[in-house]
Amino acid sequence: MEKFVILGGAKLCGEVNISGAKNSAVALIVAAIMVKGVCVIDNVPEVSDTYVLAEIINKLGGKAEFTDKGVITIDCTNLDCFEASYEMVGKIRASSYLMGALLGRFKHAKVALPGGCDFGVRPINLHLKAFTALGATHSVDRGLVDIQAESLVGSPIYMDQVSVGATINAMLAASLAEGTTIIENAAKEPHIVDVANFLNSMGANIKGAGTDVIKIKGVSELHGGSYSVIPDQIEAGTFMIAAAATGGDVVINNVIPKHLDSLSAKLIEMGVTVVEGDDCVRIIADKPLKKVKVNTMPYPGYPTDLQPQIVALLSVANGTSIVTENVWDNRFQYISQLTLMGAQITVDGRVAVIEGVEKLKGSPVSSTDLRAGAAMVIAGLMADGVTEVFNLKYIDRGYENFVQKLKGLGAQITRRTVEDKNEKQIIA
Ligand code: EPZ
Repeated sequence: MEKFVILGGAKLCGEVNISGAKNSAVALIVAAIMVKGVCVIDNVPEVSDTYVLAEIINKLGGKAEFTDKGVITIDCTNLDCFEASYEMVGKIRASSYLMGALLGRFKHAKVALPGGCDFGVRPINLHLKAFTALGATHSVDRGLVDIQAESLVGSPIYMDQVSVGATINAMLAASLAEGTTIIENAAKEPHIVDVANFLNSMGANIKGAGTDVIKIKGVSELHGGSYSVIPDQIEAGTFMIAAAATGGDVVINNVIPKHLDSLSAKLIEMGVTVVEGDDCVRIIADKPLKKVKVNTMPYPGYPTDLQPQIVALLSVANGTSIVTENVWDNRFQYISQLTLMGAQITVDGRVAVIEGVEKLKGSPVSSTDLRAGAAMVIAGLMADGVTEVFNLKYIDRGYENFVQKLKGLGAQITRRTVEDKNEKQIIA
């Protein structure tokens, strides 16, 4: 078992480069299953989620490997299996994209119900509704979803709720359907646009991605090509909040500032200076932090994936902040860990009420999911004394070189196995 050991109090200063978007890369890697030819995808973050997906493609009979730093080369020309068992996909939520990709390619997919972070119920009814609209039928047996169609036929699909995963799955399957599909109430996240651009560059015909109506004219085949993943909006946001939390001055490079608007607006409201460049943002935090209200919403609203991080920050802001989680029904599990560090937070259903305290105190804490893990690190960076963050498997799913990047900004953080002795000496 490993842990992070953080000595709080260092101001983060300097520059950091943001990696490619994890949530986009995981969709693109799976989308490559539908391509007969070689796809070269660069700016892919080397995190456990992208490694696991490469492994799954290899097990299905395709070829996927990192051929250079951040470059994955995928050839699924001879991929011949449409069944992904629980042993293959249990670790990773994005495995749900296998349903759309395998269905598109083989008109048949058998995929174990997805794993990933646990924020309460994670239904796939909207994914299945989209496949049904395209003419597929499905059944579930021992956790394996079996979806098949004689042929996929383009159709209108209305999403009852905005869903990133269901929108991507519908785009995948519809790209290789006959005729035209129109997805209404589609998700608009940056990675939806990235998936559409990737598929279009491989021969698909998708219009409107990034708006709530996406029109897809099915094509009979997709061809190989090369593509570059967009910058990771959530990693960038995590560093913006970490800079603000430590009273730092950090330039965050390789970002699309527009994707960060909702966070920038909140940080400015809190008294943080945010300076936007063409592909960077600079965070200067030299004033006391003010309370704010945050409502998580689908893009372009404030992202749920930056909710734990801003709660950590608000735990030391002046006054009472209110954070409402509108996307997931149970994404406050990590708050018990923050309260171990002295945060004053009460949760009632989807609402967290945060009474700012002067300082957090270092403590052993556990990371309960990917973004909660990042929030624990932020809390540790600003706390008095030493914080140990356990359960790193979640953080490893989505943050590339997290420790190295934070160290580059002056953070006092190390990663080590739990048996290590002399940790205070090492960190000092
Ligand atoms: C994606 O998950 C992201 N994952 C999540 O990021 C992110 O939290 C989420 O979108 C929301 O932005 C990836 O991109 C791999 P949804 P996804 O379908 O697609 C309900 C992270 O930390 N819903 O948009 O699974 C669902 O219960 C991860 O990087 C249904 O009701 O999320 C939720 O309340 C965690 N039926 C809401 O929609 C369905 O069939 C949004 O979920 C599907 C979803």
